[in-house]
Parts: sequence; structure tokens; C-alpha cells
Amino acid sequence: MDRHPDPGLVPEPERRALEAFAVELAVAAGRLVHQERPDDLGVRRTKTSELDVVTLMDERSEALLRARIAEHRPADGILGEEEGSRTGSSGLTWVLDPIDGTVNYLYDLPGYAVSVAVVVGDPGIPGAWAPVAGAVASPTTGELFHARAGGGAWRRALRVDTHTGTDSLGPPRPLAVSEPGRELGGLLVGTGFSYDRERRVQQARVVADLLPRVRDVRRSGAAALDLCHVAAGRLDGYYESGVQAWDIAAGMLCVSEAGGLVSGLEEGSVPSPSFVLAGGRPAVDGLREALRPLLLVGPPSPPGEHPA
Ligand code: IPD
Ligand code: CA
Repeated sequence: MDRHPDPGLVPEPERRALEAFAVELAVAAGRLVHQERPDDLGVRRTKTSELDVVTLMDERSEALLRARIAEHRPADGILGEEEGSRTGSSGLTWVLDPIDGTVNYLYDLPGYAVSVAVVVGDPGIPGAWAPVAGAVASPTTGELFHARAGGGAWRRALRVDTHTGTDSLGPPRPLAVSEPGRELGGLLVGTGFSYDRERRVQQARVVADLLPRVRDVRRSGAAALDLCHVAAGRLDGYYESGVQAWDIAAGMLCVSEAGGLVSGLEEGSVPSPSFVLAGGRPAVDGLREALRPLLLVGPPSPPGEHPA
């Protein structure tokens, strides 16, 4: 059963203040990771698999975010990708991806971001939380995306001045999802792949089936940015299995505030680590119809074994 809390219960002036703080946090951490990326950046440790890497800058970015939240909003909880959760007493929890697109960052590719959201409910349980406000800063491409529940979704130019260490934000431009209809042939679709090699076998099978039927498929390497690109109408849809709350919390609010839909595999279900699907309603319907039969089949048989 879904226990979907209502972000509208947070008063509008507080939602506005939370959005402004999320922007401040994402911009500050974005500046840190952009300006202080060491040329000899390496892997510090791995997590769920040897492909799931953490760099020094993931840790420094999360430390910065946690310190500022502790200073300015000590009663709020925190769930961060690298350091886990700290319970609060306010009913609000900050959900942090200190670098989304860590592998891009490791290789010095531009597609990475800092994603900061504040949610009501328990972000550890699918369906038991909902974003109130969020921001995604993409320092290398010079963009900031942000939203608050009931307040629309926005994109602003973000300029990080590496000499003075100051940031400037351009005027907010409203985001709106694309309206391509539900025909697969007209859809540009984003997706991503897990750090789990087993799961990739199924993901490869799904994408092999989908690719000839859609306009094209993009794999940017940062789920938070994929969702912001859906919100901006730059992708018609996005799906992935294996993403966590910190990957999607801010981006999914941008999509819903841009007029789109974010769900799980079944109609009306909530996004979860097992599956997230986003886009304008017709694109989501078309993608769900195509993906559902592909995802509901069992795992492929190991080589040498034949299914009954
Ligand atoms: C990953 C990225 C990637 C997605 C993975 C995520 P990370 O997050 O968002 O695009 O495909 O599922 O784990 O590890 O770079 O923070
Ligand atoms: Ca991430």
C-alpha cells in the first residue's frame, strides 16, 4: 500500500524557502566539485559492485552539503548517497546525490550534477515519501534546474567563475515536458544501466527490443539530469531500473512540476529502485505498454540451460 505523504501540507512560504536553500546547496556543491576536481582523480572505494565507484570529491561534496544542512536546518533528517541516513525531528529529510554521474566525473566527461531535494515522509521506503523542493546543478554545462511542489519547474543559466569563486544565476525560465504523443517511433528516450552486471543482462535485452521501435535512445550517465531533460522537453521519456531516491528525488519533482508524470511500471504506481518511468502522459503510456511485457518476463537462462 502506498502511504504517499502530501507535500502541499508544508506551507507555501516554507516550500519557497526550502527551494531557495536547495538551490544554494546544489550551487555550492556544484562549484566545489567543478573547481576542485583533482587532475589525478582516482577511485577511492567501491560500493555495491566493483563498477560502483566513489571518488574523494563525492565525499567532499556530501560533507559540504551535510555541514550546511546541519548548520541551517538542524532538525531535518538527511539521506545521502555516500554517508547514509540521519534521522531528524521536523518531518523533512534532505535527499542528497553529491555527484550524480560519478563515472562521467571520474572520466572528466561533462554529464554530472549535484542533486539536492527535501522530502516529506521516509525516503527509504518507496511510496512513503514525496519531494517538497529540489535543485539539480550541472556546473560543466552551466545549468541549474529547480522546483517546489505547486511552484513550477525552472531552468537557469549557472555561471561558476573559477577565478573569483562566485556564481551567477540567470533569470528563471519555465520548464515544460514535450508533447510528442504515444507513438514510440516519435520518442527520444533516455535510460541508464545498473552497476550490477546481472541486471545489465536484462537491461540490454530490454533496450535491444526498444531501440528499433523508438526515435533513438540516450544514456547520459546521470539519472538526475535525465529527469531534468525530460522536464525541459529535451527527452520525451526516461526509464530505468535500479535508481535510488537520491538519484531521482529532485529530478522527479522537476518533471511533475513541468506537467509530466513519474511512476513505477504499473499505471498509478510509485517510482522505486525496481523501476522509474517519466515523461509526458502520452509518452509514458506508450513506453509502459512497450516496456511492461519486456520487464515482466523472467531472467534469461544461463548459457547451456534451456527454459522449460
Ligand atoms: C548513477 C547515474 C546513472 C544511472 C545509475 C546511477 P551515480 O548514479 O545516475 O545514470 O544509470 O543507475 O546509479 O552512481 O553516478 O551517482
Ligand atoms: Ca546518483
